[in-house]
Amino acid sequence: MIALGCDHGGYPLMKEIIAHLESRGLEYKNFGTFSEESCDYPIFGEAAARAVADGSCDRGILVCGTGIGISISANKVKGIRCALCGDCFSAEMTRRHNDANMIALGARVVGAGLALKIVDAFLDTPFEGGRHERRVNMLMEIENK
Ligand code: RB5
Repeated sequence: MIALGCDHGGYPLMKEIIAHLESRGLEYKNFGTFSEESCDYPIFGEAAARAVADGSCDRGILVCGTGIGISISANKVKGIRCALCGDCFSAEMTRRHNDANMIALGARVVGAGLALKIVDAFLDTPFEGGRHERRVNMLMEIENK
């Protein structure tokens, strides 16, 4: 199950992402927003992130205008590793090395064609484990300090 969240700036791209997930037969839970009416990205970033953190969703995809605000929102939630990605290499590597459980995209930064490739790289790439596991554990330990 994939948690989705966006603000008004991200909404047009989120519609494309939803159509893409449906074409792949992937299940999602959409935490909104549901229109281009102005709203506050922390609400939707946090809601989707909490669903990933509590295990009701396996992964999450967030979109705002730049991807920045909504990624910061998600990363405030304990257990979340949300990577802001504007290219496929970063999306692949954040899965391989950081075990990112969420990605954020900027709808005003990347076109839909590239964004969907980034989504696929995020969804289809496994975590490598090994030495990266130690580093991910260190990342999560920061939350307990
Ligand atoms: C909304 O105008 C915009 O600030 C928001 O979508 C995002 O880019 C914030 O980081």
